[in-house]
Amino acid sequence: MSQIDLQPVKGTRDVYPEDMRVRQWLFGQWREVARSFGYEEYDACVLEHAELYIRKAGDEITGQLYDFRDKGDRHLALRPELTPSFARMVMAKGSALPLPARWFALPQCFRYEDTQKGRKREHYQWNMDVVGLASVAAEAELMAAQAEFCRRAGLKLDGSEPEVVWRVSNRQVLGHFLAAMGIDGDQFAAVCVVIDKRDKIGDAATLVELAKVGIDGERGAGILRLLDVRGLDALAQQVPADNPGFIALTELMALLEGWGIAHLIRIDLSVIRGLSYYTGTVWEVFAQVGTIRRAIAGGGRYDNLCAQLGGTAVPMVGFGFGDVVITELLDELGRLPVLGKGIDAVVFPMSAKEFPVANRLAASLRRSGKRIVVDYSGRRFKNAIERAEQDGAKILYILGGNEVKDGVVVERTLGAERIERKVPLADF
Ligand code: HAM
Repeated sequence: MSQIDLQPVKGTRDVYPEDMRVRQWLFGQWREVARSFGYEEYDACVLEHAELYIRKAGDEITGQLYDFRDKGDRHLALRPELTPSFARMVMAKGSALPLPARWFALPQCFRYEDTQKGRKREHYQWNMDVVGLASVAAEAELMAAQAEFCRRAGLKLDGSEPEVVWRVSNRQVLGHFLAAMGIDGDQFAAVCVVIDKRDKIGDAATLVELAKVGIDGERGAGILRLLDVRGLDALAQQVPADNPGFIALTELMALLEGWGIAHLIRIDLSVIRGLSYYTGTVWEVFAQVGTIRRAIAGGGRYDNLCAQLGGTAVPMVGFGFGDVVITELLDELGRLPVLGKGIDAVVFPMSAKEFPVANRLAASLRRSGKRIVVDYSGRRFKNAIERAEQDGAKILYILGGNEVKDGVVVERTLGAERIERKVPLADF
């Protein structure tokens, strides 16, 4: 038989223990921040009903589905995102769910994407979502949680040149502007999906795509002009004071001021997001340092998703924060923590005869909370020390025939100071 392919499936990652340590550190930070804001962890299965992602507005995610029919002819998909599952779970609970509810999750997601820096076909996403709060206080809280994580991860947010910024807009600004032209509902969602691609395809192609969803050249040019607006003051010049998107952004900025993170916010009307379900605030987090020009995280308000899925509309807002971009960014900046294997001590029986005593000693040490490896290799003493030091152990317990006979173990500290002493086995 020829050898199997040693590479993981294209776009997916093998996670060796040294990478897993970093992943667990990242997940630990995410969990701690979410819990510190009172969010509860939940999960759903990676297998979902495919129909949850099949949206007629032309969302890119629909074309990237890993979908198939199972043996019972159900149309299923590996989830590309968690939000629709979240909505499904909220709908299933119905009025039994006390609102507002604050939930978080760390789902693995699958998208058939062109793989490139920061983009894989499989990634993990930290999600925090609030259901049942119509106020932009929810958005402000979510952004504050993201900022707290960035700080804990070692990114510099203070001063005039923060390493990460939040690009924020509100779809209602554009929605209100287009409603005046008679464009709303599904057509509006389709317009959002088109203009989300503007950066990638350029203005000319955007106008062509807009024409395909029924927006003529003149209106198209008006849309592009609005998307070029930066900052609340400039926006105030462009839209009437009663534009609900403008009002919401003004309220949001005031709240973010209170959170002490207004200096990180860039009001940027070009942010629209590629998921058609967003109805209000939309935002993306971007690094200002390093070479990765992709969003680190993205979120938004989606007050109609439950209604689109056939239920009752309920205010919802949240974000997804991927593991790929942030890990690459921290790696590039040399800020990933250096994490050892976390082994405290190694017990070294010199021959198989000492294995039972070694195991009893190890078991007793483990019960006191220590991480213990028993080295059964029978290797030379010098090599046992070397390997234990490589593994980061602080102590080596040596058990030879004589020690067992005398009821003791040799305890040797590792590293620069190699001190040996005999300790009665009864002490453990
Ligand atoms: P999204 O912008 O599609 O939003 O994804 C959120 C984040 O997941 C991105 O900013 C990125 O960090 C990461 N991500 C997405 N696709 C990939 C990929 N192919 N490779 C690596 N990382 C990726 C959503 O998924 C929404 N459901 C987020 C949300 C939650 N909105 C409200 N609640």
